[in-house]
Amino acid sequence: MIVFDDKKNYVAEIDDAGTEIARHALTTPEAFELLNRAWRRVSWDVKYIYAFSWMGRPFIQLPEDVLRIQEVLWEHKPDVLIETGVAHGGSLVFYASLFKAMEKGRVIGVELELRPHNRKAISEHILSPYITVVDGSSIDPDTVAEVKALIKPGEKVMVMLDSNHTKEHVLEELRAYGPMVTPGCYIVASDGIMEEVAGAPRTKPEWKHSNPQQAAITFTKENNNFVIEEPAWPFNEGVVRERLTYWPSAFVKRIS
Ligand SMILES: C[S@@+](CC[C@H](N)C(=O)[O-])C[C@H]1O[C@@H](n2cnc3c(N)ncnc32)[C@H](O)[C@@H]1O
Repeated sequence: MIVFDDKKNYVAEIDDAGTEIARHALTTPEAFELLNRAWRRVSWDVKYIYAFSWMGRPFIQLPEDVLRIQEVLWEHKPDVLIETGVAHGGSLVFYASLFKAMEKGRVIGVELELRPHNRKAISEHILSPYITVVDGSSIDPDTVAEVKALIKPGEKVMVMLDSNHTKEHVLEELRAYGPMVTPGCYIVASDGIMEEVAGAPRTKPEWKHSNPQQAAITFTKENNNFVIEEPAWPFNEGVVRERLTYWPSAFVKRIS
């Protein structure tokens, strides 16, 4: 249990027997992290992330994660970002808007079931010249080959995985798209939050072990040229050290 007392300026963690096991002043990163744990759970239960859009298209992400991925894209400036899982297209439009502003880059979205109204809205969007959609399952060899054929020799590539989030599927995606990532860049296995919220509404018990976080861990164990590595924050004048995120252990970096 987490207790927040803003009169006495602390946050505390109490175990099941009622014993206080930790107490942190509100000025500390530990207090922030403990409250984030509560916030992540409540935000999940109230479907907080289903309330945002980017330039007209619904965008199903935690705003904190969106700002962090922006920092990574600005730092690496890829020629191509591949994203599996398009849904309404908000994330594709977001990446496209960054690439237009950076005057470099384009995005390839891979989607199993792009609904007609979403396809129309994406194709008619002012940023559509920066977007290519590939239809099919992200782990189908034909889809993977189609995506690969869209990348020109020497292009700098990053990947975002946001389709089916079972461990098995994400692991297959990591194996299929990992080799396309440019050394020094990331393949991001989003939504590892599933492990933490298993047991909450709209979850399944198997999320505890079948999730993108576990896929990333397994993938980095079977591949020496990939590590899970948090991108450095380009700016931090506060005391917070950990990302508030739905993407724990998501940033898989190709190191060679
Ligand atoms: C979480 S949503 C994507 C959200 C989107 N990236 C955003 O940020 O707004 C997941 C999407 O993945 C798609 N999907 C599920 N299985 C897939 C697969 N095997 N291959 C490609 N897309 C898949 C679903 O149809 C759904 O549209």
